[in-house]
This record gives sequence, structure tokens and C-alpha cells, in this order.
Amino acid sequence: MGKTDIIRQLTEYFQHENIHSMVILTDGNVEKHYADYFAELSKSVTADKIVLPSGEASKSIETAISIWRHFAEKKYDRDLFLLNFGGGMVCDLGGFVASTYKRGIRFANCPTTLLAMIDAAIGGKNGVNLQFLKNGVGTFRFPDILLPADVTLLKTLPEEELRSGFGELVKYALIGSFELFQELCNFDNIFSIKAEYIDFCIKFKQDIVEKDPYDRHIRHVLNFGHTFGHAIESYCSESGKPVAHGIAVAQGLYYESLLSTRLGHLPQEEWQQIADFLTKHFDIMPITSDILPKLVNYMQNDKKNHNNLLNFILLEHIGHAIQDIPIPNIDLCSFIANHKPQIAKPLQSC
Ligand SMILES: NC(=O)c1ccc[n+]([C@@H]2O[C@H](COP(=O)([O-])OP(=O)(O)OC[C@H]3O[C@@H](n4cnc5c(N)ncnc54)[C@H](O)[C@@H]3O)[C@@H](O)[C@H]2O)c1
Repeated sequence: MGKTDIIRQLTEYFQHENIHSMVILTDGNVEKHYADYFAELSKSVTADKIVLPSGEASKSIETAISIWRHFAEKKYDRDLFLLNFGGGMVCDLGGFVASTYKRGIRFANCPTTLLAMIDAAIGGKNGVNLQFLKNGVGTFRFPDILLPADVTLLKTLPEEELRSGFGELVKYALIGSFELFQELCNFDNIFSIKAEYIDFCIKFKQDIVEKDPYDRHIRHVLNFGHTFGHAIESYCSESGKPVAHGIAVAQGLYYESLLSTRLGHLPQEEWQQIADFLTKHFDIMPITSDILPKLVNYMQNDKKNHNNLLNFILLEHIGHAIQDIPIPNIDLCSFIANHKPQIAKPLQSC
């Protein structure tokens, strides 16, 4: 699936829905590479383009307001179509703007990062950050047309961003496929990602979202690694050293796997395989006893919490997660604080 399929599907959709006006929302890095792509996408309709500064800081209510204002100044009505062409930042923000402008206009996501292809662009969650509170405000609304992932767009993606998407891909293997995890264990580097892995993740997420679109129960499983991951992302951002979302999630996968084994759910040898694998591909930051309370503070805003208790997704086996396990802060501190992440070593155990 590539550019031609996306253009064909959009053109047919516009004809069928009688859509004549589209805004392409993107960011500066993506625009630099894909001006020709935009020109082709715009052939069948009148198109306008909004280019945001790249980076998570643009995922804010201030940016949303500036886009709403732009739409209003241009007198766009509810027939406007918004195409979010970018990574998770553009998809999350654009989905939020589309679901709120004049109570909702039609939109689609054309994801350009690995992370957005396998996660952010699907599942109908849209939103902006509230300062350091990730996704503090948002909506559930599904794109009106689901476009296929165009993996050729990944050719221009910087390595660190590919690694970030790889973090989410590993999550899918850990919660959903021992076989995929085994395949990933044979990787020497992250550039060996195949289109079929991307397809697996998309299908896995879509199946779960179909069963629980509003994230009330089984969809929580997709949040494995994110209790620690979001807290680490917020902590690093507030400390002035931001990390990419999927890199923070990879840290979360490490610590939540550790928690799984320390609580007796995950066999020790499987934890060891996960630790070997994650330390080979990611720098895992140590969580010292002075950092942990700060992380717990962020975790207290986690959407999965119930009755003031932190609620974790944990692993029972590689490829199988268990959900909504309440853990008191005190236990968390005794299980995690001052654990020293191992230094990467060649993988033998997978
Ligand atoms: N809604 C959801 O279900 C969901 C799920 C996971 C993550 N997210 C959100 O997604 C965001 C992270 O997404 P992301 O990792 O895609 O980050 P991003 O959108 O910020 O993109 C990362 C960087 O890559 C650049 N880039 C994007 N595509 C490129 C390409 N093809 N070539 C060259 N450069 C390119 C961007 O300009 C940016 O600098 C976070 O805000 C996270 O909260 C949402």
C-alpha cells in the first residue's frame, strides 16, 4: 500500500461524500519532505495547508485555538475535510480540532511515523497536553476514512523516531505475540522492521478497539508500559530533557515487566529475555529513590487508577498481559526503587 492507494481512496471518498474543500495539517519537518505528495493529494479538491512547528510542544490548546480561528477566518463550514498528515502529534491534535470545530467536521489521518502508523493514527483518541499532563484534554472520535499505512514515508524518518515507534511495536509483541517477540529478538538493528509487523500491530489494535472503543475495560491492555512510560515522559519533559513517546514507553515496558516478575506473575526467565532485549535496543534509565516519588506523583493522574490506587497492566507471559492490577505506592517503591538496569549484552536467551 502506498501513495497511489491513498490518493485513490481519498479521491473516491471525496466524490462519494461530495467534499470540495480540504485542509492538510502537517508539521515543518514533514512538509520539507512531502510538498509533492501534498500537491498530488490536492488535485481533486480545493486545498489549504497549515504547517505547525514540529514537536510535542505544538500539541497544545493554544495551537488548537489558532487552528479554530484560522478555520473561522476562512469561513470554513462543516463540509470542510481535515487531513492530518504527520506523526502522532499532528494526528492527535488534528483529530481534536476536527472533532470540536463546529461540533465536528470529517477527517482522516495519514501517518508518517512508525509510531503513528501502528498506534496514534488508529483508535479514535484525539487530544492535547495540559502543560505536563499528557493528553490532559481530548475527545474520542474515529477518522471518517481509514487510510492504509504508506511505509515508504518512513524512509525519511530520523533513526531516533524509528526507535520510538519500535518501542510501541515491542509493546504489541509483549502483550500479543510471543512469535513476533521471537522474531524481534533476531534483530541486530531496528531497520529490519517489516510491513507485516506493522500490519499485525494495526490489526491487533483495531480488534481490541472494536470490542472496547471508549477504553472502559479490555482496551486498557494497550496501555502496558504506559503507566511508567507517561510518567517518565512527563518527568523528562519537565526536567528540560524531553524524550520521544515510544522511548519513554520502552522504559515503561522494562519497569512494568520487572514489576510483573517481582509480583510473581511473569516467570523469571521470561523477564530476563525481556530485559536482555530492551537493554540491547534502548538506554534504560535507572529509577533512583529520589526520582520514584516524582514519577508516582505523575502516575496519580493515570487514567486507569481506581479508588486512589495505581492500576497496572502486567505480563503473565511474553505475548499475554493481565489487566487492572492495583498496586499500593508503598509496594511500588519497594519493588522498583534502586533497581539497577543491566547493561546491554548480546542476546542469547531468546
Ligand atoms: N492517540 C493515540 O492513540 C496515541 C497513541 C500513541 C501515541 N500518541 C501520541 O503521539 C505523539 C507521538 O507521535 P510521534 O512519535 O509520531 O511524534 P511526532 O508526531 O512528534 O513526530 C516525531 C518527529 O518526526 C518528524 N517526522 C514525522 N514524520 C516524518 C517523516 N516521514 N520524515 C521525517 N520526519 C518526520 C516530526 O516532524 C517530529 O519531529 C505523542 O503526542 C503521543 O502522546 C497518541
